[in-house]
Amino acid sequence: MITNSHKYFYIAGAGGFDFQLSTKIIFGEGSARRLSGEVQQRGKSAVLIVTSRGMSERSSLKGILTDLGGAGIRVNVFSSTPPEPSVEDVAKCIEFAMQAKPDLVVGIGGGSAMDVAKKTALEIGAPKIMIPTTAGSGSEVTYNSVLMVEGRKKSFSDIKLAADAAIVDPDLLTTMPPSVMVCSAMDAMAHAVESYGARKGNNITRALALEAYLLTRDNIGSALSGEAEGRRGIAMGSLMAGMALTGTGTTLGHALAYPLSNRGMTHGQSLAIVLPYLLKINRFDADHADELKSFRRKYCAIPEIAWEISEMAAEVAVDQRHLANNPVDVTLQEIIDIYTGIQKEA
Ligand SMILES: [Fe+2]
Repeated sequence: MITNSHKYFYIAGAGGFDFQLSTKIIFGEGSARRLSGEVQQRGKSAVLIVTSRGMSERSSLKGILTDLGGAGIRVNVFSSTPPEPSVEDVAKCIEFAMQAKPDLVVGIGGGSAMDVAKKTALEIGAPKIMIPTTAGSGSEVTYNSVLMVEGRKKSFSDIKLAADAAIVDPDLLTTMPPSVMVCSAMDAMAHAVESYGARKGNNITRALALEAYLLTRDNIGSALSGEAEGRRGIAMGSLMAGMALTGTGTTLGHALAYPLSNRGMTHGQSLAIVLPYLLKINRFDADHADELKSFRRKYCAIPEIAWEISEMAAEVAVDQRHLANNPVDVTLQEIIDIYTGIQKEA
C-alpha cells in the first residue's frame, strides 16, 4: 500500500483495476444543437425528452425542440421531474413513455432529470443522450441513478445506466440562478475530492479528479460573474469529476450528505455544506476549507431541518459502502462533531 502526505492525500489500493467509460462526450459552446444529428446518426426518429418543469420554459430547450422538429424527429416531453425524484417519479415517466413510444430518451436538466431519464431509458430498453444544464452531478457520464426509495436516497448502479452520449454545452449554464450554480459546483468538487482520495482509486481516476477539482474551484467565481470561460471551466470540471467517479464511487462526503438530504435539503445544498468539513478531515486542499465555507455562505444558506444528530451520525456509521472507501477512518464522535458544527452554522 502506498500513501502520500502532500496537500492532496490519498491511499492507493494495491493490485489491478477495471476502468470503463461508455459514453461519447461532445463538449463545447453551442453543442446542444448537435442533438438532432446524434439522434439521426443512431437511426432514431422518436425522442422522449425528460426534463424539469422550470426547464420546459427555457429558450435553450425551445431551440433544441425546434432543431428536432426541423429534422423530422417526433418529440414528446415529460417535464414532471421534481428535485430529488423518487422511484414513483420514474414509474410515471415509464408510463408516459409507454404511450409516447420513443426509440431514444434524452435527459435535459440537472442530476434529477438525468437520473430519471437514465432509469426510464434502461427500463424501456432505449438508448439515451444526456444534456446537463447545471455543472454538478456528473450524471451525464456516471453509471448511477440516485432516487428516493421510501423517503431515503438510494443509488442504483449499473453500467447499463451509462448514457450513449453526453452533450455538455457550457452555454446552457447561463440561466442557472447563482445559488444553484454554487451548490451544484460544490457537489462536483465533492465528487472530485472523494474520488481522488478513494481507496478504489487509481492513477487515471486521480488525474481526472484533481483536474476536475482545480477547474471547478478556480472557475466558479468567474462563472458567477457571467464569464464564458468560467462556465466552460465548471462544465468541464463537473464532467471530469463524473468520469472519475465511474472508477471509484463516492466516499465520506456523500455519506454525510445523505442524512441531510433525507431531512429535506437538496443534494447540492447538502454537499456544499459538507464540503469544507470534508476537505479538512480527508486532508485534501484543507488550506482552502475556510475560504470555501465563507464563499458558500454568501450564496447557499443552510435550510432548517430536524437536527437529529445522533440518528444522522448512526446512519453514516452504518454506511460502510462509502466509509470503507474513504482514505481516512472516521469515528462516530467525529461524525457527531461535524453535524454539530454544521448545526451551529445554521
Ligand atoms: Fe453528488
